[in-house]
Amino acid sequence: MSQPVDRALRTRAARVIPGGMYGHQAVGALPEGYPQFFTRAEGPWLWDTDGNLLLDLMCAYGPQLFGYGNADIDRAYVEQMHVGDAMTGPSPLIVDLAETMVAMVSHADWAMFCKNGSDATTMALMVARSHTGRNAIVRAAGAYHGSQPWSNPRPRGISPTDQAGQHLCTYNDVASLEAAVKAAGNDLAAIFASPYRQDVFNDQSAPSLAYARRARQLADETGALLVVDEVRTGFRIARDCSWSLLKVAPDLSCWGKAIANGHPISALMGSEKARGAAEKIYATGSYWFAAAAMAASLATLNLIRSTDYLERITRLGDGLRTGLNAQAAAQGFTLRQTGPAQMPLILFDNDPDMRLGYFWSERMVAHGVYVHPWHNMFLSAAMTDANIDFALDAAQQAFAELAEAAPKLGPNTRYPGPKRA
Ligand SMILES: Cc1ncc(COP(=O)(O)O)c(C=O)c1O
Repeated sequence: MSQPVDRALRTRAARVIPGGMYGHQAVGALPEGYPQFFTRAEGPWLWDTDGNLLLDLMCAYGPQLFGYGNADIDRAYVEQMHVGDAMTGPSPLIVDLAETMVAMVSHADWAMFCKNGSDATTMALMVARSHTGRNAIVRAAGAYHGSQPWSNPRPRGISPTDQAGQHLCTYNDVASLEAAVKAAGNDLAAIFASPYRQDVFNDQSAPSLAYARRARQLADETGALLVVDEVRTGFRIARDCSWSLLKVAPDLSCWGKAIANGHPISALMGSEKARGAAEKIYATGSYWFAAAAMAASLATLNLIRSTDYLERITRLGDGLRTGLNAQAAAQGFTLRQTGPAQMPLILFDNDPDMRLGYFWSERMVAHGVYVHPWHNMFLSAAMTDANIDFALDAAQQAFAELAEAAPKLGPNTRYPGPKRA
């Protein structure tokens, strides 16, 4: 895959952007051949700066639920932008949007809007502290809740006080959840829960009913609030909070990414119990009340309610998963495909430094399919059976190339994750 334009941009970026790029959108920890920059996106497709066309199984790390440039959603955005976007106060759309989301999310009686998932999770923390007058939180080790100092997964730039009072448990381990709650003593403000175990580098797992129910019980026993962080999963597992499928209602839920199909808006939603506490916190941002993303969100939620997008992405994901398993087995590899089929994580068995996964992923990109070697991926409703066939054709070639190369592959120096079995 020829990348002269991308390489030249990286050289320029390295001069004026720290590290050349930052956050999870930096490709330094991905296989060598991954493009850093993109010029265009449409439906399920991405174009890199060198004109290479890629079927995008990352969906912008989640926001693209109906594909890039969905006509209904973008029309709503553009029309509202011409009428009034970031104004001196909110447009009536904020009321429409709050009503619409409250009607869809069964545990919630109110909504507040912000921009990024991290805004919503941070506001959840503030509301829980406002509600309880306490500070500590319990969350699962390895669970991501955003890049703010309190939740940032890396140590640099973070003071230990930013993360003081955090008690970690193991996802789905009831005894460790109980121990973490006990360790928080009478200072517990919130139990944060991921909808399912969705840590990078690791096999994903569904929440056990016992774990979800115990989290609810422990919050009730201690007076803490239960928070479900739907930022990544929102509306990709259910048309409601995903723990509604377990019949466990949180007090707060955090939303972002897909709720406006890529337009910038996120939300904190809460139950009646937490309303008073939410009224008392000071939370705002210059762009939080901008109306165009709210119009886009209303159009997105309309599609969520009126189409079979969820059944469709699940079916497409199942087809992809089944096809990949068969192809891998035919070449002597065992895949560990975990997570919901519409949010798949694909790891190779017996691949401690991910050299197999990196080689395969790089070949997938070379054959026109953007996959991720260690982060869950996302399917969008813009994808078709023909797209899945395209991905499987690419995978067929990538597995064959891997089978030939595997015996000669050296250590993977780009793999940034923990040591794996
Ligand atoms: C579960 C979860 N919570 C919070 C966030 C933070 O969202 P944002 O990057 O929009 O701030 C993310 C982002 O990936 C996420 O996956």
